[in-house]
Amino acid sequence: MKNKNILITGGLGFIGSHITNKLIDNNNILIVDNVSTGNINNLYNPNHENLILINKDLNSLDLNNHLNGIDYVFHLAAMVSVPLSVENPIMCNLENVTTTVNLLNACVNNDVEKIVFSSSSAIYGENMNMPLTENELPMPTSPYAASKACCEMYLKSFYESYGLNYVALRYFNVFGPKQDKNSPYAAVIPNFISAILENYQPVIYGDGEQTRDFVYVKDVANANIKACKSKFNGIVNVASGKRITINQLFQIVKETMGSDVNPKYLPKRQGDIKHSQADISNLEKINLKIDTTNFENQLSATVKWFEEEFKRDIPNFKSKNI
Ligand SMILES: NC(=O)c1ccc[n+]([C@@H]2O[C@H](COP(=O)([O-])OP(=O)(O)OC[C@H]3O[C@@H](n4cnc5c(N)ncnc54)[C@H](O)[C@@H]3O)[C@@H](O)[C@H]2O)c1
Repeated sequence: MKNKNILITGGLGFIGSHITNKLIDNNNILIVDNVSTGNINNLYNPNHENLILINKDLNSLDLNNHLNGIDYVFHLAAMVSVPLSVENPIMCNLENVTTTVNLLNACVNNDVEKIVFSSSSAIYGENMNMPLTENELPMPTSPYAASKACCEMYLKSFYESYGLNYVALRYFNVFGPKQDKNSPYAAVIPNFISAILENYQPVIYGDGEQTRDFVYVKDVANANIKACKSKFNGIVNVASGKRITINQLFQIVKETMGSDVNPKYLPKRQGDIKHSQADISNLEKINLKIDTTNFENQLSATVKWFEEEFKRDIPNFKSKNI
């Protein structure tokens, strides 16, 4: 992708910054990010001449004015926390659904060629028909999941009504460098790595026999770019297509880090699903092949990044839940 004008909402976040870093040398990038969970230092060059950053909430902008001349939109900004969405469903609907509809409307008004939307495997909820294909019925168990399902419906309806091209990427469990370790809702891999680095006991909720399908953040960034370039309109799972138990994951993290710590088991959290595994055959439709044999190397690269962060800035690194 070259010489395009691209809007990346949430471009300073974990996944958005990987997309920005891949595209910025050859394209003009407009980022809208309110820095609620993102960080400018996630960009390899925050002063890049191809970057314009609007440090505002998407809801506070008249998007019609900002999309003039934009070719492609990657929409990642959202309330990303499931527990927060359960606490505040009205805010979740505003931040995730209303904002997306406003953005789609602005895309149509400004002749945007395609939008790539960050959706989620949370949509499948309690659906246990593994491996999960995109045709399975959404069974959302949280306002967050419902908001993502709703956005997918709007994407389809804008395609049918106005011809706005789209791909909704349903990410499974994303991991990799730059993932937020300080959030109270931090994901399992950053939690394990931080605990081991900071010398406290990692926590496993439930018996640890629940399974998850992990996908590396660089594959997710590639999926966004390939989806944008492809002729495909529709929904695509972004995952490895494999599942491992949280107990197995813990052993791999422990071995990678040369630790002999044991986990502390706490009761299962409300809303946690038992199993998750994607059918990834639709990745072909966006011409993407994910190397699914590389988990250990990807985990090593992730550990290395966290170790460097830890050495660089111990006070900021400290988790809030010690
Ligand atoms: N990380 C995962 O495992 C995962 C899984 C499924 C789906 N997703 C989806 O992928 C997207 C990106 O997730 P992430 O993990 O990179 O999260 P993140 O929190 O690191 O990134 C979200 C970014 O959006 C910004 N933002 C949030 N609300 C905003 C608003 N109203 N206006 C402007 N900026 C706003 C944040 O500051 C942040 O930079 C989200 O839509 C999320 O729901 C992530």
